[in-house]
Amino acid sequence: MASSTALICETEAWKDLKGHLEEIKKTHLRDLLSDANRCQQMMVEFDGLMLDYSRQRATVETMDKLLSLAKAAQLTEKIRRMFKGEHINTTEDRSVLHVALRAPKDAVIKSNGENVVPQVWGVLEQIKIFSERIRSGSWVGATGKPLKDVIVVGIGGSFLGPLFVHTALQTDPEAVDCAKGRQLRFLANVDPVDVARNINGLNPETTLVVVVSKTFTTAETMLNARTLRDWIIKALGGSAVPKHMVAVSTNHVKVEMFGIDPRNAFSIWSWVGGRYSVCSAVGVLPLSLQYGFSVVEKFLKGASSIDQHFRSTPFEKNIPVLLGLLSVWNVSFLGHPARAILPYSQALEKFAPHIQQVSMESNGKGVSIDGLPLPFETGEIDFGEPGTNGQHSFYQLIHQGRVIPCDFIGTVKSQQPVHLKREEVSNHDELMSNFFAQPDALAYGKTPEELQKENVSENLIPHKTFSGNRPSLSLLLPELSAYTVGQLLAIYEHRVAVQGFVWGINSFDQWGVELGKVLATQVRKQLHSSRTQGTAPEGFNFSTTTLLKRYLE
Ligand code: F6P
Repeated sequence: MASSTALICETEAWKDLKGHLEEIKKTHLRDLLSDANRCQQMMVEFDGLMLDYSRQRATVETMDKLLSLAKAAQLTEKIRRMFKGEHINTTEDRSVLHVALRAPKDAVIKSNGENVVPQVWGVLEQIKIFSERIRSGSWVGATGKPLKDVIVVGIGGSFLGPLFVHTALQTDPEAVDCAKGRQLRFLANVDPVDVARNINGLNPETTLVVVVSKTFTTAETMLNARTLRDWIIKALGGSAVPKHMVAVSTNHVKVEMFGIDPRNAFSIWSWVGGRYSVCSAVGVLPLSLQYGFSVVEKFLKGASSIDQHFRSTPFEKNIPVLLGLLSVWNVSFLGHPARAILPYSQALEKFAPHIQQVSMESNGKGVSIDGLPLPFETGEIDFGEPGTNGQHSFYQLIHQGRVIPCDFIGTVKSQQPVHLKREEVSNHDELMSNFFAQPDALAYGKTPEELQKENVSENLIPHKTFSGNRPSLSLLLPELSAYTVGQLLAIYEHRVAVQGFVWGINSFDQWGVELGKVLATQVRKQLHSSRTQGTAPEGFNFSTTTLLKRYLE
C-alpha cells in the first residue's frame, strides 16, 4: 500500500535547507569548533555511549532545519508504522520487524494481527536448548564424538552480520572464556577456494554444518551446502547428515527435502529482511553455538536498548535519528557521495563490510516508495577499515583528495589491555590517540601560513597544505562487549532506516540483487549445455560471448 506523498525534495523544508547551504558554504570547521556552546549542543549521551557530531558542517540552525525536514518526511509516523508491523516494505508487501527479534518477552509486536514476540522467544528457547546440547557434548556426531567446530554456510544477510558479531566477540574476555576449544567458520563464497579454506584442518566427525538461508534457494548457499553434505557423506555415510547438518530458514519443506531433520530447522520469518536478520536465528544460532546463549542474550539486550531509545527519545537527542539526518545532509545537500566507517578497534574489522550491505542494499535506490524516479541521489558508498590500518592506506585521499564524511568509532576500554613498561602510554592509548587526532586533522587542516611559521620550505608548502573543513563524527563506546556490539548494530540499522524514510524510498527491498541473479541463471544454463553438448554460447552480446568462448576453451 504505497501512500502517495510528494517527493521530499519538493517540500519547503528541503528547499529551505538548499538555501541554508549557501550560508554553510561560507563557514569553516575551524571557526565552528571554536564555539563551545555550539559544540556542547552537538553532543549526545545514551547509556554510556557518547556521540559528538560537532565536526559536521552544520550549525544549530542546520539541525533545526533538518528536524523540520524530518517532520516534512513524517519520520515520527514512519518509525511508528515500522514498530507497529505495518507493511512498510510495500513492494514485497511485508512488515519490517527486526526490532521484534530483540524485544522483551512480554512485548506485543504484531504482524498481520498476530503477536510475533512469542514465536521469536520460541525459537530463542529452541536455540538455547540445542546450543547447550552441542556445547555440553550431549549431542554427538555419527561416530559418537562431540561437535566442537561449526561451519556456517550462508551469504549476504545470512553471513555478514553474524561474521561481524563473531569477529567483534572473538577477543572479548567473557566470550573468549565461553568459546574455549570451539571454532566457528563462515562459508559464503561459491568459489571452491572458500570451501577448501573452510574445511581445512576440520574433521567431519567433529563438525556441525549450519545452513543459513531465508529462502533455501540461494544458488551459492545451496551449492556450498551440497558440497559440505558430500564432504560429510564421503567421510561418515549418508545417515550422518541429520546429525551433522542443521538449518535456519523460512522454508522448512526445502530443508527437509535437502536431508536435514525438520526438528533441527530454526525458523525465521518473512518480516525479517536478510540484512536485518543478525538478531534472528541467522546470527543467534551460530553465535550461541560458539559463545553460549547467555552471551548472545546480552547482545540482543544491547540492540533492544537502542530500539527503545530510537522509538521514544525526542529527535534532538535521538542518536540514530541525528546520524540519519546528518547523512542526508552530507549526501543530498553537501553532495558527498561516500562515507568512511573507521572503527579504532581491530575487533570491529568486519563492521564496515556488514554496514556496506545494510546501507547500500537498503538505500541504493533510484525511485521513491511510490515508484517515482528520484531527481536526487540516495544512499552513499560505504567503506572502511579499522584505524590505524586505514591511516596507512586511504587516509591521504580523505585528508587532501575528495571530501568523505567519516565515522570514527572508539572504545574507552580495550578488550585486551596491554601496557609495555618502557612505553609512555598503553597500546590502547596509542590507538586512541589517533582516534582523537584524526577528526581534528580533518577539520582544521593546515594553512600555508602555519607551514611558513614552521619553516617548511617553499616548494613543499603546496603539498603540505590541507584545506580542512572535512566533516566527521565520533562515537565513543565505554567498551566493546556483547551488549555494546548489539547497540552499535542497532544504531546503524536505524540510521539507515531514517535516511530511507527521509528520502521517501523503500529501504527494505533489493530488486537490483535479483536482476544479477536472473542473468547468472542464463549464463549457468549456457555453461552447462556447452560443457555437456558442446554447443557454442548464444543469446549474449559480442563481449559476453567472446569472454564465454575464451573461458570454455
Ligand atoms: O544479497 C541479496 C540477498 O537477497 C540478501 O538480502 C539475503 O540476505 C541474501 O541474498 C541471501 O539470501 P538467503 O538468506 O535467502 O539465502
